[in-house]
Amino acid sequence: MKHLIDIKDLSIEEINDLIEVAKDIINNREKYSHKCDGRKLATLFFEPSTRTRLSFEAAMMELGGNVIGFSDSSSSSTSKGETVSDTIRVVGCYSDIIAMRHPKEGAPLVASMKSTVPIINAGDGGHNHPTQTLTDLLTIQSEKGRMDNLTIGLCGDLKFGRTVHSLITAMTRYKNIKFVLISPKELEIPEYIKKEVLDKNNIEYVETNDIEEYMADLDILYMTRVQKERFFNEADYIRLKDYYILNKEKLEKAKNDLIIMHPLPRVNEISTDVDEDKRACYFKQAEYGKYIRMALILKLLEVE
Ligand code: NCD
Repeated sequence: MKHLIDIKDLSIEEINDLIEVAKDIINNREKYSHKCDGRKLATLFFEPSTRTRLSFEAAMMELGGNVIGFSDSSSSSTSKGETVSDTIRVVGCYSDIIAMRHPKEGAPLVASMKSTVPIINAGDGGHNHPTQTLTDLLTIQSEKGRMDNLTIGLCGDLKFGRTVHSLITAMTRYKNIKFVLISPKELEIPEYIKKEVLDKNNIEYVETNDIEEYMADLDILYMTRVQKERFFNEADYIRLKDYYILNKEKLEKAKNDLIIMHPLPRVNEISTDVDEDKRACYFKQAEYGKYIRMALILKLLEVE
């Protein structure tokens, strides 16, 4: 049985297959509408979510399946003191596949060890978010037409941003990828990503706190929200939350075929005047999330 805990659980070939299936789903919706008849997805969200949970649920429904779960753990037996392992063993009796988000790093991995059905990590603390990365990869492939020869700027909260950690890990497997890591000192990319992911794979990268410094070089600009819920004190959050606000002026030197991505939700880091720019693709990105999750559910349930 296969789980998706870390993006590296999938080979490049498997990722390419998922992207191809997602594209086929986009073009042939009807063909897939009964693929999961009689199957159930459980969404266990111990942390807030809009896109990830609803896109998973919409994905299962569009495959003909059903959905159970909770979006607020205070309404589950966790509030009575039940462990994640016990919850998972029980939910496995009621469902065929589980998507789970948890504030503790590693919780989905622990869950997968006890589970009788496939577990999908829908975000674990400040660690990983592999299905956002699949969404990002489908977006990049569809909008740029390639996965190699890209200079990718990642901007904002690179310390706590789990989508950034998973995306960097995924992109290091493609050819000629360069990163521009844009953050204030306090929110720099964790040391373990630099050593274990970037250096280990000989990936070229620069760090800066200036969003405009390398703007002209970028093929992709991936903006992120400052992760308020991971801060230990509010004063630090307030000081850093508006460090970057991308607007039209800051994009002046950018390439015409740049794509601007954001996993969403956005707070202040992209001014709404950028939404009209043809290079903004964060809402499209959210839509791609549903199709790639459909492809992933089919794969993990081994549906032909
Ligand atoms: C991201 C997350 O939950 O990590 N959101 C998402 O899943 N689309 C990014 C964020 O919350 O800032």
